[in-house]
Order: sequence, then C-alpha cells, then structure tokens
Amino acid sequence: MMDKDEALVLLKDRALSATAEGITIADARLEDEPIIYANAAFERLTGYPPEFVIGRNCRFLQGPDTDPQTRETIRRAVRRAEPCTVEILNYRQDGTTFWNRLSITPVKDERGEVSHFIGVQSDVTGRRRAEDALRATRDELRRALKELERDIELAARVQRAALPRHSPAVDGFHAAWEFLPCAGLAGDFLNVLRLDDRRVALYILDVSGHGASAALLSVSLGRLMSAVRGQSCLFEADPDTPDEFALTPPSQVARFLNDSNPMDTDLAQYFTMVYGIFDVPSREFRYVAAGHAGPLVVPREGEPVRHDSTAQPIGLFEGTTFEEGRLSLEAGDRLYLYTDGVTEAAGPEDQDFGPGRTAESLGRGRAKTLERSIRDLLAEAKAWTGGGAFADDVSVLGVEVS
Ligand SMILES: Cc1cc2nc3c(=O)[nH]c(=O)nc-3n(C[C@H](O)[C@H](O)[C@H](O)COP(=O)(O)O)c2cc1C
Repeated sequence: MMDKDEALVLLKDRALSATAEGITIADARLEDEPIIYANAAFERLTGYPPEFVIGRNCRFLQGPDTDPQTRETIRRAVRRAEPCTVEILNYRQDGTTFWNRLSITPVKDERGEVSHFIGVQSDVTGRRRAEDALRATRDELRRALKELERDIELAARVQRAALPRHSPAVDGFHAAWEFLPCAGLAGDFLNVLRLDDRRVALYILDVSGHGASAALLSVSLGRLMSAVRGQSCLFEADPDTPDEFALTPPSQVARFLNDSNPMDTDLAQYFTMVYGIFDVPSREFRYVAAGHAGPLVVPREGEPVRHDSTAQPIGLFEGTTFEEGRLSLEAGDRLYLYTDGVTEAAGPEDQDFGPGRTAESLGRGRAKTLERSIRDLLAEAKAWTGGGAFADDVSVLGVEVS
C-alpha cells in the first residue's frame, strides 16, 4: 500500500507529464543551472529527449537569430533570483525555429534560499505570426493612405489653380470669393471671367455629393466654362466668320451643359449652378439659376432681396429648357452667389443656417468691404455649426458695382 505522501508525489508527477506546456526544473545550487527535469511536452515542443536535456543549461535552445537583449534579461533575472517572463526565438532539434513564451520562477527551500528554477515553455509562434501579419497590413494601409492623401492634395491643388486669381479688370466692377472644400476636393466651383471690356461672366456650381467624383466633374466643368474661345461653351463661333466669337446666352449655356452631361444613373450625379453675364455699364445681370438659389442682392440702402432659381438642375432631365432671370443693380449695390453648404450648415438640433440668416449677415456686411462681408458670413455659419468643420463644400462669390 502507498502512503498519502507517496500518492501525492505520484499525482504531481503525472500532472507535470500531462500538461500541454513544457515544464523544466533547473538546479540553482549547481554550476550553470543544469536542467534536472523536463516533461513530455518539452520534448514534443523542442524535439529534445530528456537524456539530452538533463544535466545541460537550457541555452542550447538558442541560435543565431535569438535576440541577445532577451537573453540578457533572463540572465539578469536568474542572477538576481527574480521571476521573469519573455518571448524568445528558440530552435528545435531539427533546426526549425519557434517563438517560446518562457517564464522562469525561482523556488526556495525550507531555509528560504533559492534551490531551483521552474521554467514553463509555450509555443506562441501562431500568435506572433498573426501579429507580424497584422503589423505588415497596418504598415501597408498607412502607406496606401499616405499616397491617397498626397494624391488628393495634388488634385486639390489642380482644382484651386483653376479658381480665379484676381477680380477681373473691368472699370466699376469688383469681385471677391471664398472657396472651402469640406474634404480636400470639392464638388463646388466658381469663377468670374472678363469677357470683354464691359462684360463679365459669373458662375457658381455645386455637383451633387462631394469628394473625388464630384471634384472630377466640377473641374471639367470649370475647363468647359473658361474664357478660352474655341474651347469654352461660353462662346459661340460665328459660322460665317469662324474667328469671331459671340457670347452664348446663359439659357443656351445651361442647355448645352444639360445635353452634354446627362445624369449617370450609377453615380446619380448632376449639378446645380448659377451662370450669368454681367454688363457693367448698364449694371444688368442676365442669368440662369438651375436648381440653385438665385442671386442675393444687397442694395446700398435697404433690405437684401433674394431671387429664386429659374430652372431645373443640370443633368437631371433630358431636353429641359432653361428660363433666364434678369436684374439690374444700382451703383453701390452688391450681388452674391453661394452654394447650399452655407445655407444648409446644420446648427443646434439640426436646424439649417438658412437663406434668411445668410441674407441678414450679408446685409449687415454692407458696411464692410466685400471681402470682409463674405468672411464674416462664413464665420457666422461656422459658429452656427458649433465651430466644427462644414459638412459640405462652401463657396461664396460676391460682386459690387460702383
Ligand atoms: C528553468 C530554466 C528554463 C529555461 N528555459 C529556457 C528555454 O526554454 N529557452 C531559452 O532560450 N532559455 C531558457 N532558459 C535560459 C537559459 O538557460 C539561460 O539562463 C539564459 O540563456 C541566460 O543565460 P546565458 O546568457 O548565460 O545563456 C532557461 C533557464 C532556466 C533556469
């Protein structure tokens, strides 16, 4: 019959043999801490049988790619008889490598002196590989994101370069604008172009959506609506004298753009726009407001007057005709065009900044410079949203006649 103690020792021995982790015991009192016990899992993990292991220091598992720093960490812990846990690259008997999560714990004898070290070895290669793969994917994503951001920044520069640089040099006429894409690239675009010594073309447009796809269309529309005769839809060649160009009436410009940009059903992309020709000496503005808020007139004296859109958005309906609007300004009056990024700036409880507040702000701005009135409008709209970023592209174009 076995006594209780013997039975317990046998049980512990069986338990050590049965565990999935490698377990080793080294004698701390002998020179170079040799292993005096290694369980079956250690042999399964490393390929080394007990007869090889017993009597050796466990460093035989290390090889050329083992990190010397990690080895130093273990050495210091063993020297100071402190517990330590590391992940170390080890080599099996057949030369293959594995990541070993090794924890070493000192064991004290009845006098309180360290007599042994227990080492527990687990193979964490799978987890390390997954982590490495994750890190590689993250690095790859970061690189791709950087490239994308650079691409967008370059494309945004192309878009900004297409904006007007100066107010056109026409006596008695002055223009100012602000253009704020909400995401680098804008679906908005605006322009003010000298057509001849008395006329100026003004437009502002807003492609549905924003970001890259909207910007591609807005940039190509900017090219199509340039001052370059022969390439621009704003001029018509005279069939009899092809070198002479006449101005295309705003309704015809809209018609042409509608015919040449039928809505792509996949992208559901269309645009709204105000295009008009301003005759400076007579201060008359002849325009089409296609699905877009019409001009806002801020007179020198009196209340601002809002004008409605005169036609459907462009690209939505085939064969639409585009009605024109006309208005005349007095000397000192101002006229503004703006996209819905201003009026739809969402404030507390999702309430829009709205055309009313826009008109009031620009009305108050009559006492300031044209530039200042636009900047203050945008500051008010931004404050309305709580000071965060605008959710849509924001553009404002203002003109003043003297
Ligand atoms: C109980 C015990 C188990 C050990 N098991 C391993 C092991 O599985 N893999 C390993 O690389 N090192 C292991 N070591 C560490 C090495 O034996 C040695 O302490 C380490 O390499 C630092 O000393 P050195 O720089 O003199 O080699 C173990 C140490 C002890 C005390």
